[in-house]
Amino acid sequence: MTKEEIILALREVHHPAKGDKDIVDLGMVQSVDIEDNKVTVTLGFPTRRDPLAEYLIGSSRAALIRHLPASIESEVKTVIVEDPKSKRKKTNVNDLDMDQINEVKHIIGVASGKGGVGKSTVAVNLAVALARLGYKVGLADADVYGPSVPTMTSTEGQTPLAEEIEEGKELILPIEKYGVKWMSIGYFAQKGQALIWRGPMACNALKQMILQVKWGELDFLLIDMPPGTGDIHISLLQDIPVEGAVIVTTPQAVALADVEKGVNMFQNPNVNRPIYGIVENMAWFTPEEHPEEKYYLFGKDGGANMAQTLGVDLIGQIPLVQSIREGGDSGEPAALSSRPDGVAFVELAAKLADKLA
Ligand SMILES: Nc1ncnc2c1ncn2[C@@H]1O[C@H](COP(=O)(O)OP(=O)(O)OP(=O)(O)O)[C@@H](O)[C@H]1O
Ligand SMILES: [Mg+2]
Repeated sequence: MTKEEIILALREVHHPAKGDKDIVDLGMVQSVDIEDNKVTVTLGFPTRRDPLAEYLIGSSRAALIRHLPASIESEVKTVIVEDPKSKRKKTNVNDLDMDQINEVKHIIGVASGKGGVGKSTVAVNLAVALARLGYKVGLADADVYGPSVPTMTSTEGQTPLAEEIEEGKELILPIEKYGVKWMSIGYFAQKGQALIWRGPMACNALKQMILQVKWGELDFLLIDMPPGTGDIHISLLQDIPVEGAVIVTTPQAVALADVEKGVNMFQNPNVNRPIYGIVENMAWFTPEEHPEEKYYLFGKDGGANMAQTLGVDLIGQIPLVQSIREGGDSGEPAALSSRPDGVAFVELAAKLADKLA
């Protein structure tokens, strides 16, 4: 592997906010060092924070991994390069972050202890339903490993722009559709390109997706949390003023232990945020051609029993219906419709808004 070949690989990394130019043309590649079996690439960033820095570092790592033989180790380092044009006072990271979030009335996590229970489906539809009720709503997709918001809203392929709000402060503009402002790391990934993050980088990318976004004035900012209760979750709850959470579950008795984990994550003394309620997803199955029928495939009243056991409210029951799955795949959320499943999401939204009023 020669230096030229590595530069060529790095040309696959484009800066979405800079006219989609690649990082080589933008002069961001400061050096490429090749030792026996290690390649070290150093990227230079101006002193001001690039809202997409973590994304560019992750993409560069991915490009190197794709092109280098498995026996060669690779590393991406960063240096700060002074931008001679700007002589600014140092910006305080926290000031910037909190400025943004101050205009958001309620930040609510949509979580579960377990994967695949329909968190993203509930989060996206809840956002759309809240918007239908007239609230100003945003949704941040915090699943940096498996973002689903672009597909579920049919906004994939759109590229958020960055805006310099004042010298040295750049924010990403969310994508707007169905009356909701959406943000997801998925908007920055090339199609079919896996995002490769180390733990701390994933946390930083995630925070950028929430804190460096020009949300403007919002009544609700929902955060579609990644599955599980690991480091990312704890870091998120430490650094972002998430006010409380909605926990999504399916009715099975076996899900209780997972839901309990999700509830404990918010209620442990170090975090101590309220749970606004449990949403029982896939509460019953209704065939499309027999909308009046309900089949309790995963047991009846599972969500209600769980809620009672854990001392939280059951704030919504969402049926398992083909149209919800189809809505997720086609990017037209079920909550836009006046079918029973659409109404279920609007009722959930009204209940949540009521609790927070
Ligand atoms: N009520 C429902 N009716 C029909 N299909 C549903 C329902 N809820 C979720 N699904 C489908 O189940 C699948 C998983 O849902 P989703 O991606 O929302 O789960 P998740 O909890 O966010 O998963 P992950 O843990 O991977 O983030 C999707 O294909 C979705 O369309
Ligand atoms: Mg999800």
